[in-house]
Amino acid sequence: MQTRSAWLQTFGCQMNEADSEKMAGILRAEGYRLAAAPEEADVILINTCSIRAKAEQKAFSLAGRLSTLKRRRPGTLLVMTGCIAQKLGAGVLRRAPAVDAVIGTARLGELPELLERVRASGSPAVSVGTEPREAHPAVAVRSSRLKAWVTVMFGCDNFCAYCIVPHVRGRERSRAPGEVIGEVASLAAAGFREVTLLGQNVNSYGRGLAPRCGFADLLRELDARTGIGRLRFTTSHPKDFTGELIRAVRDLPSVCEAVHLPLQAGSDAVLGRMNRGYSLEDYRRIHGELTAAVPGVVVTTDVIVGFPGETAADFARTVAALEELRFDGIFSFAYSPREGTAAWGMSGAVPEREKAARLAAVQELQYGITLEKRRPLLGSVVEVLVEGASRRDPGALTGRTRGNAIVNFRADGTVSPGDLVGVSITGTGFLALEGAMTIDQDPQQGGVR
Ligand code: SAH
Ligand code: SF4
Ligand code: F3S
Repeated sequence: MQTRSAWLQTFGCQMNEADSEKMAGILRAEGYRLAAAPEEADVILINTCSIRAKAEQKAFSLAGRLSTLKRRRPGTLLVMTGCIAQKLGAGVLRRAPAVDAVIGTARLGELPELLERVRASGSPAVSVGTEPREAHPAVAVRSSRLKAWVTVMFGCDNFCAYCIVPHVRGRERSRAPGEVIGEVASLAAAGFREVTLLGQNVNSYGRGLAPRCGFADLLRELDARTGIGRLRFTTSHPKDFTGELIRAVRDLPSVCEAVHLPLQAGSDAVLGRMNRGYSLEDYRRIHGELTAAVPGVVVTTDVIVGFPGETAADFARTVAALEELRFDGIFSFAYSPREGTAAWGMSGAVPEREKAARLAAVQELQYGITLEKRRPLLGSVVEVLVEGASRRDPGALTGRTRGNAIVNFRADGTVSPGDLVGVSITGTGFLALEGAMTIDQDPQQGGVR
């Protein structure tokens, strides 16, 4: 029999990226090869996101387009996984009748079994329980050979009032430290240079583990025992961000000086209704301690505008907080009501036009701040992990700083992907930095970033 092939499309966060790599691994272990286009695939998998209405629309419109393809190629199976699958379960089949299998976020390992069931029965299969099932022992097919995601915890217990994640990813569960350390060590041994530890709230890692191992302990173990060059982590939650973690970022050589610490809003009234568990003053204190302890640390954040009841005065507090805290970058979103969350029924909806205006204002403000914050890098030497040829300029190389900024730079022919090199910055922009490799500098000795 000819080898079967699969094509995967991923929406949403890094957690979904990591899950897609796992599902690609599961399919490969089952003898599938990965197809370059959906037209060539026997199994088409859409890994979906439910965080905002627009993310859901994108997934369903792709499923709609693929249903025509399915009519041309009977026998092709269309699978929906991820957060929409988890949320709607069999309801997916009503909105997208071309879908053959719906697989929830805790059931990835059942993928081969469900495909077989659909083939045998000719009718759709659904598995969306929240009890995690034994994962298929396949090895993830990673999209990069240098940088890898490693999930350290699943689910979320925070129930921020706007957020669907706890409803679709279930309760928080931490992986055993030994398992994480083993995975990172084998990635390092296989030539990976950078690992990003993933969790919806990595700062609460270890809750419920015995013996005790907090997130800072995990970082220390990974730094000491795995040989990985660079460690990153996301996402941090201000209410669980400890002094111990700040010291870990400051002291551990492999831990990059870049922290994503979502603020969400600058008004205490809005933060309270969002159920975030901190005030602006709490945030300010943590941010102050972090930036004082780790000079030059890159801090990024998430902001939601137009949460129910957000007045013009509340919004002005978000703007003032961005002006005061001067983040290196932000992700900003217009509030999107999600059925089933606490905020769904809240009064005081902000009109769409007003949300769009607030979003534009925040983005314009941040554009200027990001540019200004990058300017002092001009003339400095930063450590860059070389990733490959630059897409915009094939004569140049591209890589990332410890602060996670993209750098396009000129180098001699001796440099290859995976190298850590010192790059002298000659230009700064919103999307990327420009530079040239230095000849006589060893970035690992120089303490540059
Ligand atoms: N666990 C992470 C990421 C959650 S999703 C965290 O706690 O930060 C990423 C971002 O999407 C959130 O930080 C928030 O800013 C945004 N977001 C979540 N739900 C949203 C909604 N209903 N509408 C608009 N933005 C939302
Ligand atoms: Fe959502 Fe809040 Fe959990 Fe982040 S911490 S995933 S925003 S509920
Ligand atoms: Fe989206 Fe699910 Fe991630 S809702 S943001 S893919 S956890």
